[in-house]
Amino acid sequence: MLPCDYRVRLMQPADYARIGEICRVVYPHDTPYTPAELAEHHAVFPQGQFVAEHVPTGEAVGVHFTLRLRMADYHVDDSWDVLTARGTFGDHDPNGPTLYGADVFVSPEHQHHGLAHALTDATRGLVVEELLWRMVGASRLPGYGAVAGAVPADDYVRAVMAGERTDPVLSAHLKDGWSVVRPIHGYLQHDPESANWAAVIQWINPACPPPLEMALR
Ligand SMILES: CC(C)(COP(=O)(O)OP(=O)(O)OC[C@H]1O[C@@H](n2cnc3c(N)ncnc32)[C@H](O)[C@@H]1OP(=O)(O)O)[C@@H](O)C(=O)NCCC(=O)NCCS
Repeated sequence: MLPCDYRVRLMQPADYARIGEICRVVYPHDTPYTPAELAEHHAVFPQGQFVAEHVPTGEAVGVHFTLRLRMADYHVDDSWDVLTARGTFGDHDPNGPTLYGADVFVSPEHQHHGLAHALTDATRGLVVEELLWRMVGASRLPGYGAVAGAVPADDYVRAVMAGERTDPVLSAHLKDGWSVVRPIHGYLQHDPESANWAAVIQWINPACPPPLEMALR
């Protein structure tokens, strides 16, 4: 499915500067990742930091960053800052049964080539490989800001799930196999396009039962 001039691999230190540049473009309202932050992610969980590479140039053009968490330690509507320890991934729990998708983005000139899909397949592969229960994340809703004054977030998300509306990010995530848990407010602090709303999303690993402590007794 991935065009032949791209491949997905793990992040390397040589990618840090380019990732910061992409971040500046796709998140103009946020501070881009610094090389020190990316080195921290790499240090805590190297096998969870994926890059889509444009093979002819060797450049990183997309990323998917993950960490392992025990979601019982958090609330479903916690913010990105809380779930990622302010972006440090310092809360990564090597025994956490949930792979948390902290970020996925693709450089605009390489979007619509299936890179986010391939990056998500790679993270799903990690869930299967590490025998994890599930993958959780939160989808921005960049189509919502324009209608937020007239449409409740619940209705907007329901309409995207039903295919009655298209959201530039949530629609792509749904095609990539994620399902919606529920919309939450305040996940990101500087996301006017989404009116600071997001949809919590998950993918359950069909091959792995819930952890023992979740079993009903
Ligand atoms: C969301 C995002 C990561 C998607 O990246 P992407 O690589 O373009 O995603 P994909 O190519 O896998 O899928 C996007 C669309 O391209 C389509 N597509 C995939 N391969 C294609 C191909 N070869 N030719 C044409 N279209 C294709 C997909 O069907 C999908 O369609 P949809 O938008 O109607 O759902 C990207 O838009 C992005 O970086 N956005 C800004 C940052 C952001 O908000 N990230 C999400 C944080 S929650």
